[in-house]
Amino acid sequence: MSSTRPPLQAKYELLLENNGSSSTTKKNILVAVITVGALLMTCITAYVSWWLLQPVIEADFLHMNVPETVPMTLHMLKHRAKCYEKAFLQLNSSKIDPIIHVPARSPVPSSSPRVLKLVCYYSFPYKDDLKPERIDPGLCTHINIASLAVTNKSLSEITPEISKVIKEVVALKTQKPLLKVLLCIGGYSAPGGFNDMVKKHEDRKRFIRQVLQVLKDYSLDGVDLDWEFPSWPEEDKQEKIDFNVLLREFREAFEEEHKPFLLSVAVGSPGSIIDQSYDVEEMAKHVDYVNLMAYDYHFYVWYFPVTGANAPLFRRPGEKGFLATLNTNWSSWYWVQKGMPKEKIVVGVPTYGHSFRLVNADNHGWSAPVSDVGKLGSNGFVTYPEVCWFLTKEGAAHEYDMDSQVPYAYLGQEWVSYDDMRSIASKATYVANHFFAGVMVFSLNQDDYNGLCDGAPFVLTQQVRNVLFDQL
Ligand SMILES: *[C@@H]1O[C@H](CO)[C@@H](O)[C@H](O)[C@H]1NC(C)=O
Ligand SMILES: *[C@@H]1O[C@H](CO)[C@@H](O)[C@H](O)[C@H]1NC(C)=O
Ligand SMILES: *[C@@H]1O[C@H](CO)[C@@H](O)[C@H](O)[C@H]1NC(C)=O
Repeated sequence: MSSTRPPLQAKYELLLENNGSSSTTKKNILVAVITVGALLMTCITAYVSWWLLQPVIEADFLHMNVPETVPMTLHMLKHRAKCYEKAFLQLNSSKIDPIIHVPARSPVPSSSPRVLKLVCYYSFPYKDDLKPERIDPGLCTHINIASLAVTNKSLSEITPEISKVIKEVVALKTQKPLLKVLLCIGGYSAPGGFNDMVKKHEDRKRFIRQVLQVLKDYSLDGVDLDWEFPSWPEEDKQEKIDFNVLLREFREAFEEEHKPFLLSVAVGSPGSIIDQSYDVEEMAKHVDYVNLMAYDYHFYVWYFPVTGANAPLFRRPGEKGFLATLNTNWSSWYWVQKGMPKEKIVVGVPTYGHSFRLVNADNHGWSAPVSDVGKLGSNGFVTYPEVCWFLTKEGAAHEYDMDSQVPYAYLGQEWVSYDDMRSIASKATYVANHFFAGVMVFSLNQDDYNGLCDGAPFVLTQQVRNVLFDQL
């Protein structure tokens, strides 16, 4: 075509962009380039908006997908894991000191025996989940029924189903009068939630009045506030202050009632959340104790896809910098350093674990590459009976790590970090030896309440009980 024309003319046609066949080809190429470019731009825009909207989508998912009556367990677990994930990223870029400086204080000698707490969370049962009447009334010293929420700045509605469960748990006290039953009020920062309610005096007052009424109506012993988390993820110094005002006003309201209602708070364990969310010294004046959520230290995340322990008691020698802060020992002492008396720190242990999918089945130690959550459990959250099934029925291998004092199990590409009889005993011994207030168990619903593992029900929680109360 163009080659049949003299070169000069061809050049001229090109420059003029007249209707010659050569320029049509060029035009087609131009159109193609523009189309591809436009498609690319659309993709980039879509990706960027997806990226920007990601938190919104997640927030929506967290708020909308679970009906009110469904137990909050998995829902709240997922939310906390997300918070911790963000907290760890912050920690990585901060200069948090893995060494804790606490003035040495000799244990208070006491003539009367110390009374340790065994605080157990129990979630509203879902389908064929654990029913209240099957809870051993002599197992725990405190049961936290989880959870009601704060909606429209008020305590969420008590449906007939919820009412029935609360009554049945409180009824366990007829067999063990010393058992304390608390109502847990959980939630995250959302419109109408804790963050909106704490702002104004009149809203706090109404909320406290509602809670007090429920405590009296159901003969409950107190309230456990599980806001995950104040002044989080965006720092809001006023919110941090308002949270303490809420705690103080709760305390004052309880004193006016002349009833020894208990006030506890479920608190976070990553250093960045502790720093940003709580004024610990002020908090210590108002609460009876805090329940330290010492778990979810490691689970599958796409940007750090390696195996790790859900709830290690101690750091491993190789763990440096902020990684050395991701364990129960560090978090417990950090709360002490920040001003919470040990007698008010109840250290949490999980009855659930986290599963991972190994990249290479032969590489199954700590920090082994992983590609996803495992098949075991739900979204990587694995109950203790599921772990037992994995070990005994599937024949998974397991190792106990002496440094971090927790086990892990693996089979093929499936890998799971969990707590067993030995690690739970080790944590309970730690709590007793270091004079903390007691052990919190999350949760009875994920323990082996059917006795599938070795015939006896609630083996993990029972193990905590045996260690705590045999040692004294
Ligand atoms: C922490 O930051 C360092 C460098 O800033 C990076 O190499 C490392 O992968 C990060 N770790 C995590 C867990 O994000
Ligand atoms: C536990 O934490 C304390 C305070 O940071 C530290 O002194 C101690 O060495 C830790 N224990 C272990 C076994 O890592
Ligand atoms: C929220 O509570 C206020 C006052 O308690 C009430 O007037 C309002 O109708 C409630 N809104 C919703 C959506 O429930």
